[in-house]
Amino acid sequence: MLEGKTAVITGASQGLGKALALAFAREGASLVINSRREESIRPVAEEAEKLGAEVLAVPADVSKAADVEKLVEAAVDRFGGIDVLVNNAGLLGPRVQILDYPEDEWRSVLEANLTGPYLVSKAAIPHMPEGASIINVVSGVSIQGRAEWGAYSVSKFGLEGLTQILAAELKERGIRVNAVDPGGMRTDMRAAAYPQEDPMTLITPEENTDVFLYLASDDSKDVTGERFKAQEFQKA
Ligand SMILES: NC(=O)c1ccc[n+]([C@@H]2O[C@H](COP(=O)([O-])OP(=O)(O)OC[C@H]3O[C@@H](n4cnc5c(N)ncnc54)[C@H](OP(=O)(O)O)[C@@H]3O)[C@@H](O)[C@H]2O)c1
Repeated sequence: MLEGKTAVITGASQGLGKALALAFAREGASLVINSRREESIRPVAEEAEKLGAEVLAVPADVSKAADVEKLVEAAVDRFGGIDVLVNNAGLLGPRVQILDYPEDEWRSVLEANLTGPYLVSKAAIPHMPEGASIINVVSGVSIQGRAEWGAYSVSKFGLEGLTQILAAELKERGIRVNAVDPGGMRTDMRAAAYPQEDPMTLITPEENTDVFLYLASDDSKDVTGERFKAQEFQKA
């Protein structure tokens, strides 16, 4: 389904990003994956290589322009271009009211979840051909503000806006930009957000990759500016 395509997936050391890296590898994509630490991203690269994929693992913080440039340059040097970008890396931040929200945490969450996708998209777009696809990972709290979701929710509202703006700006160039709300999944981030919840009641990220494969593939070639709920997506 993704043979001949190069996909950049941010925040791929665990959770959804890792599940997407392995699912994309199974479908024949070449991969560029990152997280902030070499030791956490390397094992995922090895697992994806065992599935037959060519993989470049680059430690990079998406909120830092210099790291992002290094990431995109390495991807282009190795694979010649970028067909799919999944802006998945994210931070939850504290679950407290705005009145109690520490300023430094506010800034780091916005930088990772909103400035990160802006920086990676801006660096990647010049290397994306017609038909390429950008997928931004959003959330239920990116269209509805709820108490104690603070900078996380605000950053994801911003990411919805970035998706719509980029979709409009890139339409002429044939680059597609869509948002996906994955819904609750059995990951570390979800467990941190809902410590009382039994994780076994949630689907795993590995069970939640269909819409991402669809948006990465040519099956969705005219789809842009849309918002998907991963757990409601029906495979054709
Ligand atoms: N889990 C859910 O139920 C749920 C629901 C709705 C939306 N989402 C969204 O889905 C995405 C994945 O969530 P998840 O649950 O899989 O989260 P997770 O398990 O916490 O994984 C987050 C990933 O992002 C990386 N990361 C964090 N900050 C980064 C930065 N500045 N630069 C590069 N990498 C960074 C982490 O690696 P390092 O720490 O090694 O850098 C890790 O690989 C996020 O965008 C999240 O907001 C999740």
